[in-house]
Amino acid sequence: LENGVARTPPMGWNSWNTFGCNINEALIRQMADAMVNSGMRDAGYEYVVVDDCWMNPNRDSAGNLQGDPGRFPSGMKALGDYIHGKGLKFGIYQAPLTETCAQYFNSYPGSTGALGHEEQDARQFAAWGVDFLKYDWCSPSGTIDDQVRTFAKMRDALRATGRPIVYSINSNSIHDKTGPRRNWGDVANMWRTTEDITNKWDTGQTNGYPMGIQNIVNVTVPLASYAKPGGFNDPDMMEVGRGGMNDTEMRSHFALWAVMASPLIAGNDLRNMDAATQTILKNANLIAINQDPLGLQAAQISNDGTRRVLAKRLANGNVAVALFNQGGGTTTVSTTASAIGLSGSSFTLRDAWTNSTTTTSGTISASVPAHGTAVYVVSGGGGPAPTSFSLVSQSSGRCL
Ligand code: DGJ
Repeated sequence: LENGVARTPPMGWNSWNTFGCNINEALIRQMADAMVNSGMRDAGYEYVVVDDCWMNPNRDSAGNLQGDPGRFPSGMKALGDYIHGKGLKFGIYQAPLTETCAQYFNSYPGSTGALGHEEQDARQFAAWGVDFLKYDWCSPSGTIDDQVRTFAKMRDALRATGRPIVYSINSNSIHDKTGPRRNWGDVANMWRTTEDITNKWDTGQTNGYPMGIQNIVNVTVPLASYAKPGGFNDPDMMEVGRGGMNDTEMRSHFALWAVMASPLIAGNDLRNMDAATQTILKNANLIAINQDPLGLQAAQISNDGTRRVLAKRLANGNVAVALFNQGGGTTTVSTTASAIGLSGSSFTLRDAWTNSTTTTSGTISASVPAHGTAVYVVSGGGGPAPTSFSLVSQSSGRCL
């Protein structure tokens, strides 16, 4: 979406994966503090996004949205001010129909969706200083045309406020037809590619609920041509640092999100991250690959079911290569410089995890543990910078 924001994949934190409905203003403030104190802000993380369950189900007498008075007693504007005071940006959640997904949580008192209040809610968000809106289709029904019309309505309402607001949509919640049914690049800055992520490597889902890391990668890799500055595939908030996976899998998760030009939205508790989690989330090489100004999502170079190779062309002519082992044992994953569009006879490989370099005359390979991903930034060769890969088009897609 050409609205001036999300020229590279948005980075931040979202409350949902760890806290669900158990949120309040003290918690969100603590998370903003932790974003700064942990070095996450300096690493590039910016948006603090309050997900579902922040609202009072009753609008005020003028029909305006209000924060839940018990859990957000200072109000949403004050929360936004606090977040901005930390040099961060403020994200919030709403749903396009009559209620948010909170309607499905028996213990939750209720919610009020934006239906019939789109312009009013957009103006309210702008007045609160909101910089990011997550808009979540919480209904088992609705055709794709209904979704396009309804998501576009809020796009236009946000634009009319004049405030730059990242527009993040999810067409998949509580919906039997989940998955990428169109390229949403004309509607939003980021769009979920699947139903909800969970902190497991593989849930066996091809596209249902809940999705593991491997399952989401399988759905999102083929959508590479949709990604470009202003619009990115969103494989969901990250599960790094949430348990449920080993260190190799956590690293692989982050590396794959990085090369897929995915929004890097942490979903863990930032107040008590262990060293391994911080090493992953703050990896400067992978963040630079993710935030490259070309905004390309890695193209698939090969996939034999076990060994999968993805390559992301970078603005300086280098290529980031992910060597992903989808199998259950250590194996060697390989490609070549020519397969990723580079010509020449000598190349430098910088390992994104160790930052060490090696040289090669063309073979790019690594011994990769089960579910691991090695990432190299490949430079040199002396030939012209690659402009495209032959196997998967990198041209920017528009509306299908
Ligand atoms: C479904 C979304 O996929 C989740 O990320 C979260 O926003 C919940 N809805 C909140 O109800």
